[in-house]
Amino acid sequence: MPQVSQLFFKSATVFFLLGIIMGLQMGISGDHSAFPAHAHLNLLGWVSSAIFGTYYALNPAKATGRLPMLQFIVYTVGIVVMIPSLYFLSLGHAAMEPLVGIGSMIVLAGVLLFTVVVFSRQA
Ligand code: HEM
Ligand code: HEM
Repeated sequence: MPQVSQLFFKSATVFFLLGIIMGLQMGISGDHSAFPAHAHLNLLGWVSSAIFGTYYALNPAKATGRLPMLQFIVYTVGIVVMIPSLYFLSLGHAAMEPLVGIGSMIVLAGVLLFTVVVFSRQA
């Protein structure tokens, strides 16, 4: 499996663990207010990262060069900025909103890079 796939599955697994821990914490405490951070940690962090990793594993020619690694770094940094700030925003810390916006834009940049990879002529 290409290195970028390995990295995506490693980050996906960490996000999955944190995502279900957050879900369990909400379920056990009865306070569901952090659910947007939980939902997006699981869907952007676990599900989407695993889809990226699977794509590169199925299309190893697309996993070559610098772009896939740059895509991994940008996308993952975006999640690391967006989700913790979304968590605190969900808990009522309104000052976190700009950081959620910045993190979301970085995630968008990661998805744009993935779009470039998918549409590139390479194999
Ligand atoms: C042990 C694992 C999990 C637990 C205990 C858990 C728990 C929860 C809880 C308590 C809520 C809040 C429900 C509400 O107040 O409406 C929630 C919402 C949500 N969870 Fe999970 N969750 C788990 C795993 C997952 C996974 C793996 C995903 C996605 C792949 C996911 C996606 C979502 C989504 C999208 C919502 C928001 C639903 C809505 O719009 O109301 N969860 N979860
Ligand atoms: C940077 C990317 C994204 C941004 C900025 C974003 C933003 C949002 C916003 C503003 C809401 C409404 C929240 C509310 O009304 O309280 C929402 C809800 C939701 N989004 Fe996203 N979203 C993103 C990516 C995704 C992706 C990739 C998925 C699925 C794979 C997804 C699934 C959902 C779901 C299931 C809900 C309803 C549950 C919730 O409110 O948390 N989102 N999103």
